[in-house]
Amino acid sequence: MADVDGLKVAKNYHVNEPFAKNGGFHVKGMQDVDWGMKKRLSKIFQPESGHTVMLAFDHGYFMGSTAGLERLDLVIPPLMPYVDVLMGTRGAMRTCIPAENNKGIALRVSCGSSIVDEDLSHEVIGVSIEDAVRMDASCMAVQTFIGADGEKDSLENLCKTVDAGLKYNIPTMGVVAVGKQMERTSRFFKLATRILPELGAHIVKTYYCEDFEEIVSACPVPIVVAGGKKLPENEALTLCYKAISEGASGMDMGRNIFQSTHPEVMAQAVNMIVHKGATDKEAYEFYLDVSSQSK
Ligand code: 5RP
Repeated sequence: MADVDGLKVAKNYHVNEPFAKNGGFHVKGMQDVDWGMKKRLSKIFQPESGHTVMLAFDHGYFMGSTAGLERLDLVIPPLMPYVDVLMGTRGAMRTCIPAENNKGIALRVSCGSSIVDEDLSHEVIGVSIEDAVRMDASCMAVQTFIGADGEKDSLENLCKTVDAGLKYNIPTMGVVAVGKQMERTSRFFKLATRILPELGAHIVKTYYCEDFEEIVSACPVPIVVAGGKKLPENEALTLCYKAISEGASGMDMGRNIFQSTHPEVMAQAVNMIVHKGATDKEAYEFYLDVSSQSK
């Protein structure tokens, strides 16, 4: 272990210099992965924009029935035309999502805590690699708890998932958890978003924060930004616009889509920013315009 006494603060992020090792493949840091892995990554990150819209509806795996997700079978299918990837558990997919869809699947493979327990930071890998293959997973999502009690176990879960996924060319998405007791500073997010790709994660899901461009610069794989708690629609679209403008490769939104008064219109507005270069103002005008007609 390096002697960390007197460690210098990282500061030279070269935020205006493009990622050097791109080799023409549209997913950051993935130039040298195998064909099958590129195929799956291309199902997630659209080759035309290089970006992705993920719809997160995995809340039930630790929260039970969540507002807006009481009936996955009714709520999710109408949103599917506007997103690239469905992020959920194998139970939700198999029971509620029609298999005849061409969306990417971000399969939640870690589990083990529930909101009944105050401390959510202890998880195990709950899905075998064989079942991820059977589910045609485009990537496997593992929660990580940097700076929390479950840090070591969650990083072990991540490493084991990366190893298993490499056998079958299934990428791993490391998810940066934020807990009640955990930091939400840029210092914390810089630490987490660098540890995960160093351990082999192919995609990092994290939260937007200040110094986001530096975070993106120092992370050698694509960053997908979590939506987080429900915000007014204009604020959620501004969050999305800032994240994409500052280098995020996509959004993974849950509550800000399915808890919106007009979920389908909101999903389209997010898609406009992520894939079509719309500003937050343009996307919100679209949201107001279309949702006023559907009242
Ligand atoms: C938890 C997750 C969830 O998928 C995600 O947080 C849910 O989406 P949202 O916060 O946008 O409702 O990864 O860490």
